[in-house]
Amino acid sequence: MKSSCSFNLFILAAVIFLGCLNPNGATTCHPDDEAGLLAFKSGITEDSSGVLSSWTKGTDCCSWFGVYCANQHRVTSLSLGDLTGDFPYTLSGTISPSLSKLQHLESFELIGLKEIRGPFPQFLLRLPNLKQIYIRRNRLSGPLPTNIGTLSPHLETLVLGANRFTGAIPSSISNLTRLKELYLNDNLLTGSIPPGIGNLKLMSIITLDGNSLSGPIPNIFKSMTKLRILTLSRNRLSGEVPPSIASLGPSLEFLELGHNNLSGSIPSYISRLAKLKKLDLSSNRFSGGVPQSLSKLTDVFDMDLSRNLLTSPFPVWNVTENLRTLDLSYNNFYMETIPEWVTSASYVVSLKLAKCGIKMSLSDWKPENIGVYSYIDLSENEITGSPGKLLINEGSMREFRASGNKLRFDMGKLNIPESLETLDLSRNLVFGNVPGTVTGLLTLNLSQNHLCGKLPVTEFPPSVFAGNDCLCGSPLPPCESEYG
Ligand SMILES: *[C@@H]1O[C@H](CO)[C@@H](O)[C@H](O)[C@H]1NC(C)=O
Ligand SMILES: *[C@@H]1O[C@H](CO)[C@@H](O)[C@H](O)[C@H]1NC(C)=O
Ligand SMILES: *[C@@H]1O[C@H](CO)[C@@H](O)[C@H](O)[C@H]1NC(C)=O
Ligand SMILES: *[C@@H]1O[C@H](CO)[C@@H](O)[C@H](O)[C@H]1NC(C)=O
Repeated sequence: MKSSCSFNLFILAAVIFLGCLNPNGATTCHPDDEAGLLAFKSGITEDSSGVLSSWTKGTDCCSWFGVYCANQHRVTSLSLGDLTGDFPYTLSGTISPSLSKLQHLESFELIGLKEIRGPFPQFLLRLPNLKQIYIRRNRLSGPLPTNIGTLSPHLETLVLGANRFTGAIPSSISNLTRLKELYLNDNLLTGSIPPGIGNLKLMSIITLDGNSLSGPIPNIFKSMTKLRILTLSRNRLSGEVPPSIASLGPSLEFLELGHNNLSGSIPSYISRLAKLKKLDLSSNRFSGGVPQSLSKLTDVFDMDLSRNLLTSPFPVWNVTENLRTLDLSYNNFYMETIPEWVTSASYVVSLKLAKCGIKMSLSDWKPENIGVYSYIDLSENEITGSPGKLLINEGSMREFRASGNKLRFDMGKLNIPESLETLDLSRNLVFGNVPGTVTGLLTLNLSQNHLCGKLPVTEFPPSVFAGNDCLCGSPLPPCESEYG
């Protein structure tokens, strides 16, 4: 009895001793961290997939789902959601301000939780070690705090994209001098781009697309020698492309300014952006000629200059390897033919040359590698002939549009490859009957041609067959012979 008792005392002493070796305890985390996380959990009103089911009081919070510790067992990262894809779960609720207890937090990631609401989490301003904030694809709303510049001086990444933030981008953001990545895209932000962003010399990514920002693009890029991605598309920006963009030559890979109200000419210094991979100037009011020097941009894989007021000639641009998508549609180009450099480019996936003044016969167009093409739009030109050679079974064509041309061929003999989903041949001179193979298409438009005969059974509305010579049968009126 006596020896057993002292043995128990020995065990107890050993446990206490081992406990002292690891004063923060191997089995429980810091009480502040636990309390902060449990308060966050209690702010979540719905967690139907049990994302937070491992978060139970008295267990080591460092082992909870999405919680990571360092610095002697303090929580340094809270990460719910997936940086790369869609988080497959939904969490509803608000973000508890008690998360400010996580004083060692360096990374805060709530990505694609979908139903997280409430204002900008002010407690983030009280976390001195934050390096990364990712609050993307939630439903946060209201203004960004005017003192957002008092976030941790260590902050490198600020991602607030795809929420519902309103109001202006606070000018104090220029005080976040360690910032490298800023994503404010797809919110409801208004006002102009604060020029102070030009002080942020370490910037690598600025993504402000999909807001209602207005005014000119400030001329602030001179010192941003590391900027790789500048995305300002889908706003209400006006004025010209600022000259300091030229300074980004050594670094800029993505320049996306589409769907704004920008004007002036495409600056010739654009050719100095030697690393450019994507150039999107679409749907603005850019005018004048395209600088010859553009042809020096041989790394570009995606160029979209569509829907501007640009004029011919488009420079000869040798892009045999890299170009994947090209859209020059709806400018004032008169190309006469599809340019030879397009035809010889070997990996073009998407080619859009609508209303480019092309007058050739499609039967004469022999692109280098038609099997690679998935999207072609040659609408609103004066193209004759037949697309027959482009619609091959071995290819990957999904969408072919050539409405408003002078195509003249027998529709009944046109091969419709299985890969094809969309076919728009409206407003041409196509004759013959409609083959049964159109049934497999998702979108079809054959209106205003010279087609004739009984339609195959499809679910397309009558409008896609309207204005032909003598088509009949559902969804158009029955054929004469059907009365008999
Ligand atoms: C940046 O921080 C300094 C010092 O705290 C402050 O005086 C200044 O007003 C801040 N700048 C902006 C634009 O808020
Ligand atoms: C575009 O900018 C011009 C001035 O450059 C202005 O007159 C026009 O109203 C703007 N359009 C839109 C839609 O904002
Ligand atoms: C484009 O490439 C072809 C053949 O590689 C060459 O003959 C032509 O001079 C090049 N054109 C330009 C503008 O670089
Ligand atoms: C079909 O084409 C005609 C003429 O181009 C156009 O007016 C009509 O809106 C199109 N219909 C559909 C369903 O796309």
